[in-house]
Amino acid sequence: MCKTLITLAALALPLPAVAQDGNPVVEARQGYFKLLGLEMGALAGMAKGEVEYDAAAAEAHAADIVTLSTYTMDDLFAPGTSNADLPGETRALPAIWENMDDIQTKRQALDAAAQELAAIAGDGRAALGSAVGKLGGTCKSCHDDYRAEDF
Ligand code: HEC
Repeated sequence: MCKTLITLAALALPLPAVAQDGNPVVEARQGYFKLLGLEMGALAGMAKGEVEYDAAAAEAHAADIVTLSTYTMDDLFAPGTSNADLPGETRALPAIWENMDDIQTKRQALDAAAQELAAIAGDGRAALGSAVGKLGGTCKSCHDDYRAEDF
């Protein structure tokens, strides 16, 4: 009896700690988009002239964006992880789960723009600028429809 209680107590202990860590799908999703944002920020800085243009660095950032853009995102949009389910934790709007086909369409647009970017990233600052602008449009198109302004 005593032993059972102790075992149960030991098993129960980690649970509150897990709950406090937040939802793992939301954390992965935000981490994924943070990576995209980091690579995009580096390229936008070069395109704007805030950072000196460097063909090899631009190609490396573009290659990372291509890698990220081929990720299917399905796991990142697991059911039960909208801002209606988890207020304050995420900006993902419930409309995502009513329009999963459109999410895939937008993901494919991101992928296509990333491929175009990778093809010209080494061709100079002007070429980079127009491809970054196009890629940024595919980010914005999803954020406008499916991301809340605030948490
Ligand atoms: C298919 C839709 C979609 C596309 C395409 C998309 N995003 Fe997002 N993005 C989201 C959603 C939804 C969130 C909110 C995630 C959350 O809060 O759970 C988000 C959040 C973010 C965040 C904030 C992450 C954080 O810290 O919480 C950044 C940065 C970001 N996106 C950058 C980008 C960039 C850069 C691109 C394009 C290269 C892009 N996104 C393309 C849907 C998209």
